[in-house]
Amino acid sequence: MATRTVLTGIKPSGRPHLGNLLGAIRPALELARDPSLRALYFIADYHALTTQRDPRAYAELTRDVAATWIAFGLDPERVVIYRQSDIPEVFELSWILACFTPKGWMNKAHAYKACVQDNEEKGVADVDAGVDMGLYTYPVLMAADILLFDSDVVPVGKDQKQHVEIARDIAQRINHAYGRDLLVLPEPAIREDTATVVGLDGRKMSKSYDNTIPLMMPPKQLKKLCNRIVTDSSPPEAPKDPGTSSVFELYKQFASASEIEAMAARYRAGIGWGEAKGALFEVLEREVAGPRARYEELMADPGELDRILAEGARRARELARPVLERVRAGVGIAPPA
Ligand code: ADP
Ligand code: TRP
Repeated sequence: MATRTVLTGIKPSGRPHLGNLLGAIRPALELARDPSLRALYFIADYHALTTQRDPRAYAELTRDVAATWIAFGLDPERVVIYRQSDIPEVFELSWILACFTPKGWMNKAHAYKACVQDNEEKGVADVDAGVDMGLYTYPVLMAADILLFDSDVVPVGKDQKQHVEIARDIAQRINHAYGRDLLVLPEPAIREDTATVVGLDGRKMSKSYDNTIPLMMPPKQLKKLCNRIVTDSSPPEAPKDPGTSSVFELYKQFASASEIEAMAARYRAGIGWGEAKGALFEVLEREVAGPRARYEELMADPGELDRILAEGARRARELARPVLERVRAGVGIAPPA
């Protein structure tokens, strides 16, 4: 019998990549195997609307994220997988939460602050230029995603830590305002070794930086991308520190303990970057070949994916309704007529 809830979401704002796999998907699927946890993994399509403005993109990108989860081992019988937009309760709770969220908290949220800083650096007079309320209140909607299911644990990459903390702070504020535990306080679960996976250019791997290694690509293209990872220009015979190499960092995530040890020794003895990247491609391809085949099958049958998501939405709403009713009653709004 599940006693605690684990929940996470991925935006359908582009193709899922290695950062998503290592920061969120893999840790979340490991947690889902724990029989004492109820797992809910969803596709945050309304969050994507802050950046994805092509109406034709949603259906395909949403199925892409769902198929990726399932291809890497999510069992839709055990894990509730759904689209955020299928759960109207999320948006109702979001309003209630907004009424308890100090505006100052949003001023401190990373994504908003990054926009302001960017405007300042460019000398734009209005520091809020380009900021809409979707971006500004993004953390409130994310808090609703989390709190609506009484989530205890939220596996995410480090970039999302602040958002989970804001969800917790909002819950605490509401509980304090009404003098009782209306909402469950969530905790982020962040893996030290994959908190921030580095992208092709050495910055955080992110769809927004166009520096990702997408998970589902033909082997040839995958190999090409591995070769594009930026390294220093030291010659093949120069000893290399495995501890500071992003190629080695990624290799470690997919190799066995003995492979890692052997490869570290080769770095120290001197290995050409071409060869090191070739070795990364080999272990990566070994990991994704199976999921890629399953992914292709799933993507070829959109009706089946849509059925899985519809069933997930039905189950998610069943869990969401009593929580929303509890909060509505708590603030004094009568149940729906
Ligand atoms: P992106 O930053 O590419 O738009 P998302 O925002 O959709 O990716 O992220 C979905 C999940 O994947 C989140 O839990 C996020 O923290 C995690 N994630 C994304 N990029 C990375 C990364 N480079 N390293 C670790 N985790 C990541
Ligand atoms: N904001 C997250 C991201 O950009 C996606 C997300 C939306 C999410 N709602 C969530 C993650 C709830 C965890 C829990 O990656």
